[in-house]
Amino acid sequence: MRLMQHKREAYWFYRYLSNFYDKLVNPLFWTEPMREKALDLADWSGGELLKVVDVGSGTGFTTQGIARRVPAKNIICVDQSPEQMERAMVKPDLDDCRFRLGDAERLPFADDTFDRYVSAGSIEYWPDPQQGVFESYRVIKEGGQALLIGPIEPVNPISKFIANAWMLFPPEHEYHGYYERAGFKDIRYTYIRPHWQENERYGIAIIGTKPAPGRSPAAPQRGSHALVEADPEGGWLGRNLLLTGRLLAGSLAGFLFIPMALLAHVTAPLRGVEGEVQPLNREQKAVLYGLGAVTAFFVLRAIFRKR
Ligand SMILES: C[S@@+](CC[C@H](N)C(=O)[O-])C[C@H]1O[C@@H](n2cnc3c(N)ncnc32)[C@H](O)[C@@H]1O
Repeated sequence: MRLMQHKREAYWFYRYLSNFYDKLVNPLFWTEPMREKALDLADWSGGELLKVVDVGSGTGFTTQGIARRVPAKNIICVDQSPEQMERAMVKPDLDDCRFRLGDAERLPFADDTFDRYVSAGSIEYWPDPQQGVFESYRVIKEGGQALLIGPIEPVNPISKFIANAWMLFPPEHEYHGYYERAGFKDIRYTYIRPHWQENERYGIAIIGTKPAPGRSPAAPQRGSHALVEADPEGGWLGRNLLLTGRLLAGSLAGFLFIPMALLAHVTAPLRGVEGEVQPLNREQKAVLYGLGAVTAFFVLRAIFRKR
């Protein structure tokens, strides 16, 4: 498994990432136009009556899009990170939502509870993504829809290497496989990408309809998968050394993506990449200027050393 495709690693990662997640991560990798396109795949008619669960809801960015379609009081947010959830809880448009700490692979709800299931950008961290999809199937009602949004394995070899070392970026066919194995019907999908990304297949939003009540016929018996607390890897010391190592390396891999994406963002017009340009915010500009200053320092040092 990848550095961050573990529940405890993801939990600790978001303890500090939540501080700048809304400023540096979403505006680059999961933008409003992407969110709107993905959410439009679901049927939101009769929104007043739809009960929705947003799994891996984080700081509530996707929830805010859902709240444009159904009343916030009909939405329940689930995340395993209290730090991320606290940031969502103070957003005024999410005042009426309900919040529950919980695990995507073991949702704290009865079978056949919701009309819509949404999960955006969370599958990357799930040790057992098929189990997460079985859970999406289980908690929605017959005729309900489950919408899963996630990244597709990059094509660029350097990005692919970093992505695969970092967390789960499933190849596209795996998303279809998760849904087909779970037993969803009427499976549809669309591709999403930020404006700076030339690859049309950067991310996928996939949706399926539950054909019959109850659990997925293919799901394992209840309780046969591990909880966060019951992660079985090694003894206390070994496990914590592993956690620290993965967290440091995983954070480094993650932070490489931010300057790479910022450079791609500013060079998009030069590269002829078409798309609605999103203006950079103050924090993104600060990272970019910092990057420029460090590069200038090393270039000037190299020049003066040669003399
Ligand atoms: C990239 S963020 C996406 C947040 C949000 N959906 C959005 O659109 O901005 C991923 C979120 O998934 C959560 N997460 C990761 N693994 C999880 C799990 N097993 N159960 C519940 N939440 C999980 C993380 O805590 C984090 O808040």
